[in-house]
Amino acid sequence: MIRPATHENIIEAAARIKNGDLVAFPTETVYGLGADARNAKAVEKIYITKGRPNYNPLIVHLTDFSELESVSTYKDTPRLVDLVERLKHFWPGPMSLILPKRDCIPSVVTGGLDTVAIRLPAHPVARELIKASGCPIAAPSANRFMHISPTRAKHVEESLGSKIFILDGGACNVGLESTVVSLVSDIPQLLRPGAITFEELEAALGKIELGAKNSTHPASPGMMPKHYSPNTRLSLLKDVDINSLPENLGVISFNEKRPPKFPYKRVIYLSHDNNLEEVSNRLFDALYELDNAKLDLIVIDSCEEKGLGLAIMDRIKRAAKA
Ligand code: TXA
Ligand code: MG
Repeated sequence: MIRPATHENIIEAAARIKNGDLVAFPTETVYGLGADARNAKAVEKIYITKGRPNYNPLIVHLTDFSELESVSTYKDTPRLVDLVERLKHFWPGPMSLILPKRDCIPSVVTGGLDTVAIRLPAHPVARELIKASGCPIAAPSANRFMHISPTRAKHVEESLGSKIFILDGGACNVGLESTVVSLVSDIPQLLRPGAITFEELEAALGKIELGAKNSTHPASPGMMPKHYSPNTRLSLLKDVDINSLPENLGVISFNEKRPPKFPYKRVIYLSHDNNLEEVSNRLFDALYELDNAKLDLIVIDSCEEKGLGLAIMDRIKRAAKA
């Protein structure tokens, strides 16, 4: 059930969280499927609802920086205090930090790891929900395992069904999942690129590595090579022979000013002119929409893998993985 994110409905959602139930809610990145992070039974429902394997850990959402030490022991390690200090100006925002966990966070949240991913979201609905629930909220993206992350309330319903209580806060601003940074390795590692870019992190930290690329034992267990997939086959336009494309073709273009020069059935322009913020904002919505259009193939533009382009191409390449 989709409910507008009014104050009354947020209070009702918070009552559900307190009661050990699940609620889907908007953040500035994507919609999350939340539960009380301290309640192992409630968190188990997240894995069951998503069909997600239990070794794949969740992100714990807080509202205030001062709450960080209630879920992590990072303050025991001066090096971590320094690193967190250098990054905290990106919060509230689209960044998750991997830090040592406290015992109050049950191991079901962290897939058995002794570390926990923590994020302070900026979205006012997410913040009001966390405050009203009075607990940290564990939340993965609110989609079926391996499917496209939801950036609209209707995507959540489409992916997880109509029994889920969904707070509708409109379209997510960023549209890509948060940047995930591990601070527990010797050199900080970028485990998942996002709207807080590699370049911004490098400027703040001095040194950072691109973590777990295409590894079979990724440092971040959720980073599978194939992920974020539509059911329809997706290819990068630069990888296909434009002379042998199917008739029943969908196109996702980054530039409205340059329409495709080959025949197609449907086209979605993500931006007027290769604006990467617009591209990231609309990418997943376009994938949901064309995936419902019964096409034989979707082809999509590419961009340079720097700045926000690194995160955009990361998601597109995973979605296009056969
Ligand atoms: O933008 C977001 O991050 C959204 C919103 C709802 O906050 N959440 C989200 O969660 O994308 P999820 O579960 O779909 O992705 C979490 C990622 C996964 O790749 C997971 O492996 C990684 O974070 N992760 C979580 N805890 C970790 C840990 N302790 N160590 C390494 N990676 C971790
Ligand atoms: Mg996800």
